[in-house]
Amino acid sequence: HAQLRGDELIVVSNREPYIHETGPDGVHFKRPASGLVTAVEPVMRACSGTWIAHGSGSADRSVVDKHDRVMVPPGSEEYTLRRIWLTPEEEQGYYYGFANEGLWPLCHVAHVRPVFRESDWEAYRRVNERFADAVVAEARSADPVVLVQDYHFALLPALIRQRLPRATILTFWHIPWPNPESFSICPWRTELLEGLLGSTILGFHTRFHCKNFIETVDRNLEARTEHEHSTVTINKQTTLVESYPISIAWPSDTQRAAWPSVADCRSAVRHRLGLGPAHKLAVGVDRFDYTKGILERIHAVERMLEKHPSWVGEFSLVQVAAPSRSDLDEYKAFQQRIHQVVGRVNARFGSPGYQAIYLLAEHHEHDAVTELYRAAEVCMVTSLHDGMNLVCKEFVAARDDEQGVMILSRFAGAAAELNEALIVNPYHVEESADALYRAITMPAAEQRERMANLRMTVRDFNVYRWAGRMLADAARWRLRERIEARM
Ligand code: F6P
Repeated sequence: HAQLRGDELIVVSNREPYIHETGPDGVHFKRPASGLVTAVEPVMRACSGTWIAHGSGSADRSVVDKHDRVMVPPGSEEYTLRRIWLTPEEEQGYYYGFANEGLWPLCHVAHVRPVFRESDWEAYRRVNERFADAVVAEARSADPVVLVQDYHFALLPALIRQRLPRATILTFWHIPWPNPESFSICPWRTELLEGLLGSTILGFHTRFHCKNFIETVDRNLEARTEHEHSTVTINKQTTLVESYPISIAWPSDTQRAAWPSVADCRSAVRHRLGLGPAHKLAVGVDRFDYTKGILERIHAVERMLEKHPSWVGEFSLVQVAAPSRSDLDEYKAFQQRIHQVVGRVNARFGSPGYQAIYLLAEHHEHDAVTELYRAAEVCMVTSLHDGMNLVCKEFVAARDDEQGVMILSRFAGAAAELNEALIVNPYHVEESADALYRAITMPAAEQRERMANLRMTVRDFNVYRWAGRMLADAARWRLRERIEARM
């Protein structure tokens, strides 16, 4: 970010990085389960600036000043969090409705039918307008650098462009972009595309998503697309469409020094579950979401135990499933189904003091998740479709003992980078079951070889590189515009 020194940085996302809750002993904060927050927060701490987000916790209103601002992180106060309050109707239509019943299933090939309601679309438009007004209110200059995050804000780039024509707008789409046929069922496809094309740079995780986006523009708008330079021009505004694979902040030595040893993590987790010291564990950590392949993962565990009965009683999957979007019927039904299937599999293989699957259906803070990563022999990421997926990168970062095997879905963006993982098609139960067996029987030397390479990749291609590349591209763009303005 050195090249943007002196420039003003504003981030906009729906989810806020810190949620304040009121408990019996006062206000405390929690970190949400969100890959977006995991990635963007360290960048904000490094660059400072203002982060505008939807206020969501029970105590949120009591901790902000009269401009709805609070300095975060609590305790070290490195940047400003500006909260926007939504009415229940706005939250219903914009967040639950259009974003999560419309765009989420539209962009993920997970065979859940998107729902498009006129009233949700209206709320989505209104909330995008409100955030555009907030960007203008927060901006101290006429040409801030605004980082717009995710599918909640497809209209925001063009709305900001109208209000602040000289702003540099970097939009990052954290979820996949589907092929043009799939996207074209959306009744408001042209509005969404035109909204996004207000951006200076539009980023996706993979080249494949960029290609899908440019083809979608080709089919739906009268715009000039230059495939070679990966740019789209419409109404004299040119947008660079580029891939920036997102990542995590590599843990510092100080952070690592504070971690309990792998041996302590192993015994603490096994002790809590009432399991013996040699019991093998796989871990899954997800939001409770139908795109994450949790059902397919359970079927893989079931099939592995069926094929290799000597592992019954000796192996379990610990699945963390953080409740998410639970007001939606599709999510409620999914949660119920998972509980049911876990019950069935545990009844089939379980015995007193042993379960094949431990389903921990509650939010876990980062330290608790790190403990699980360090305690497990295997981490399973079996998403049916995922923009990137950061759980696999966090697992790798947690394993400074260079042990542990990563099983990774080929339909997660991360599969393009993490070549030493065991890559599976989660729809193919047999293949995943075999990968699981291979993982729990893998010799330590092979684990070390794979993990050492994975660690190098995640350390080198960390989130500062993600942000750095995007900001460097933006800096080049700004310089060019300044030079052209002088001509
Ligand atoms: O990256 C996808 C994403 O939808 C983020 O926008 C979001 O913060 C995260 O997943 C978690 O979802 P939610 O904010 O709806 O709980």
